[in-house]
Amino acid sequence: MTALTMFEGAKAQVSKRVSEAYVSCVAKFPDQVGSKESAYATAVVFLLFVTAIAHIVRKRRLSQATARPSTPTTPALEKAASKNGDAPKTQGREWGKWPPSDFRTPKPDPYPDWSVEHTKPLPYRPFRYGPKYNVTMGLRSMKHVDWIELDNHYPRYHADKARRIKERGHKCCRTAPEAYPAAVELLEELTDYLPARYPSLYRRTAVGLDNLWSRESFDIMTRPLPEDPIQTCARLVQDDLAIMIEKPDSQYYLLAGAVLLPGFWRLEDKYGMPLSEIHTSGDVPQFREKLEKGMLNFFRRLKPEEMVARNNYFLQVDDDLGWSWSIGSEDAPEVSWSTAEKNRAVEHHYFRSERQSLRRLPRSGGVVFTIRTYFHPITEIAQEDYVPGRLASAVRSWGDDVSRYKGKERYGEVLLEYLDKKHQEQVERGLDLSREEEVRAYPY
Ligand code: HEM
Repeated sequence: MTALTMFEGAKAQVSKRVSEAYVSCVAKFPDQVGSKESAYATAVVFLLFVTAIAHIVRKRRLSQATARPSTPTTPALEKAASKNGDAPKTQGREWGKWPPSDFRTPKPDPYPDWSVEHTKPLPYRPFRYGPKYNVTMGLRSMKHVDWIELDNHYPRYHADKARRIKERGHKCCRTAPEAYPAAVELLEELTDYLPARYPSLYRRTAVGLDNLWSRESFDIMTRPLPEDPIQTCARLVQDDLAIMIEKPDSQYYLLAGAVLLPGFWRLEDKYGMPLSEIHTSGDVPQFREKLEKGMLNFFRRLKPEEMVARNNYFLQVDDDLGWSWSIGSEDAPEVSWSTAEKNRAVEHHYFRSERQSLRRLPRSGGVVFTIRTYFHPITEIAQEDYVPGRLASAVRSWGDDVSRYKGKERYGEVLLEYLDKKHQEQVERGLDLSREEEVRAYPY
């Protein structure tokens, strides 16, 4: 529901209340209502006043909307804390114990006209105009049918993952005993979902599924399973995967993961950590002030029926999807933007954007975090209408903390000079800047 429709609803409610109040006033105090007409006139003046305010707010919102892409409204998903301060409500269950839910994931419809040759990656461009960069959770509701996105970059992701599983699977894929049932449940969910959603790529079999493109067969019934179930899951999708398990302290711990194409972080550094430490150990900007409470509450409240997504973006100054070696070797004790070469030519600048989803598995209660990375040369996305101007504005809006986190000092000058030039070319070509909202709304 938009803010505008919410306002219209509120306005209708006020009008209804005024009429009701008038009627009940006349009914209760017929003698004290001096004249029916004068009370009615008061009500009419009040209604006119409410309508005038509504008109002003509507005009203001519309003028803002044409100048700026919309922002997803997610206040209900991002409530910071319970009314009892920081004490989490138990919600009628013991922390760390999940009573299995009856919820069954709905069978998805096939993705329209999907093919491994022709379906292009969705063009996520989740950056907003300045002047201010707001750190928020940025969650939006999504449907189960949209859980996993596959496209014609699948062959590259499949090959990179297979190679990295061979070379460093023991570092990138892990499942703790407490998370094993959840990892098996995730494998079962994918085995049901993928053949229904992408029937030209996957076929359901009596024991699992077949990949019709790679000719791999997966038997998920055999025990013991031939490999860590989360590693098998990783072979099936383009996403990296993590499972968070609630412990009796009500915190969520990273206890299973297949993190093969992360770019900037390593599963071995974060494995076993609770949600807060995962983020504070990486100096995520404004985590304590803006994100922590909302995130912890969100995890405790998440139901199997719900699913959410969020998008982010980074710049990278090398072309490696799996690991951005510019910030250091993947096996170095410490990695940092300070080691990256400064001012590399713009041909080496890559746009990296993650589309993340969160859902709770109904049987085990584990929370599955999917991280699908979209990866393109900056020179490619800067050809798209509005993108160079909006990205330049977004990069300029980063505060010192966000700039440090995203490594701006290493590439900012080269990048901004290039984006400004491309934006100028688009304006000179006649790009109508006032139509951006119509053409590309967030997160596109
Ligand atoms: C409501 C859910 C979550 C929110 C709102 C959130 C938010 C964030 C934000 C704002 C960042 C900074 C980069 C960015 O802009 O995305 C970040 C980084 C990160 N998040 Fe999350 N996150 C969530 C869940 C998770 C989960 C479940 C994991 C488990 C693996 C996770 C792992 C990480 C890691 C590893 C980083 C990089 C940290 C580093 O740079 O060392 N996040 N997160």
